Amino acid sequence: MRTKMIAGGLALLATLGNQAVLAAQPDKAALERGRYLVIIGGCNDCHTAGYAQAAGNIPESEILTGSPVGFSGPWGTTYPANLRLPVQTMSEKEWLTYARAERRPPMPWFNLAKMQEKDLKAIYHYIRSLGAKGEKAPDYVPPGEAVNTPYIDFVPKNLPQQARKD
Ligand code: HEC
Repeated sequence: MRTKMIAGGLALLATLGNQAVLAAQPDKAALERGRYLVIIGGCNDCHTAGYAQAAGNIPESEILTGSPVGFSGPWGTTYPANLRLPVQTMSEKEWLTYARAERRPPMPWFNLAKMQEKDLKAIYHYIRSLGAKGEKAPDYVPPGEAVNTPYIDFVPKNLPQQARKD
């Protein structure tokens, strides 16, 4: 009788344990939402090499692996990060802090920081579901230092004169 109760208790614990694991898994709808947000959020435009040139026709297995082509401006030269690598070892909570942090141009961090938590989480689970892939993007180069990779000159030209206030 006692053994039976213990066995029953263990079976119940095992079931609860499985449910907890299942609850932590994103459902299909959340992954679909993540895929959609990454596309319309424009993340691939910078974080997927060649995406714009291919009009978005890049295999999904290749996306968000970063770009070796820098953006150069007064801030130095920045490279769209490979998002597939760091996300694999991050908790959901760490991702929220990471995704909301201030970044250098031209990363539109001020937009991403305003994204609703459930959408940020959907992006997290979607990127994780793609698995780790690719190399780390080149390191940031401070202003005035030599840039040894291809880069895009991201400096506005031919601006109209600013209206003088005096
Ligand atoms: C206009 C180009 C551009 C777009 C669009 C863009 N990013 Fe970025 N992103 C960058 C660049 C460049 C960096 C590196 C910034 C730096 O070095 O501080 C970056 C950095 C990041 C980082 C920090 C990575 C790290 O480890 O430094 C995250 C997270 C990120 N982007 C997520 C996103 C997501 C999600 C989207 C879509 C909603 C997005 N980005 C859209 C260019 C872009």
